[in-house]
Amino acid sequence: MSLNNDILKVLLTEEELKAKCAEMGAQITKDYQGKNLLLVTVLKGAVVYLADLMRHIDLPCAIDFMVVSSYGSGTETSGVVKIVKDLDQDLAGKDILIVEDILDTGVTLHYLKGLLQSRNPASIRIATLLDKPERRKVDLQSDYAGFQVPDEFVVGYGLDYAEKYRNLPYIGILKPEVYSK
Ligand code: IMP
Ligand code: MG
Repeated sequence: MSLNNDILKVLLTEEELKAKCAEMGAQITKDYQGKNLLLVTVLKGAVVYLADLMRHIDLPCAIDFMVVSSYGSGTETSGVVKIVKDLDQDLAGKDILIVEDILDTGVTLHYLKGLLQSRNPASIRIATLLDKPERRKVDLQSDYAGFQVPDEFVVGYGLDYAEKYRNLPYIGILKPEVYSK
């Protein structure tokens, strides 16, 4: 059975995602000239976005990964952010760009930004592919925002439901019957 059968509607096509990564990468390339750029990515949802975005950043830069969890296998945030894997690198003097898949309630990123800030980087900004502004619980905005999406549970292009659908090449709305089962 095809994964596509569980998708109610395609929100963002492969072509739209590709074009957005090119546009965001070009802007980041402009903004980070002469800086010491470190892309910090939160596993696992943002890996597909990172992989596409970084190839449009025409600058020397490093990447590093963190694992945090604020979600169980459900679709609602628990509000609890746990660091499962920390960064390998020292942040002092680096220009940090946190690369995330989606800014939803903002709880995860708010916590993360505060934590990384305390390690004395030269600067810290946030790039998110998706933004659900209606869902925000904390005062936080991304410096580079890809697309605004409606308050629906979306999957694909790295985003999962219960660890599935990350490998869909597009972003779509999951059929509610898939998670209400
Ligand atoms: P926040 O702390 O509520 O902003 O949660 C952000 C995290 O929740 C993201 O990194 C995603 O892993 C997950 N998330 C939020 N909304 C969705 C969605 O619609 N689909 C899949 N994952 C989501
Ligand atoms: Mg995630």
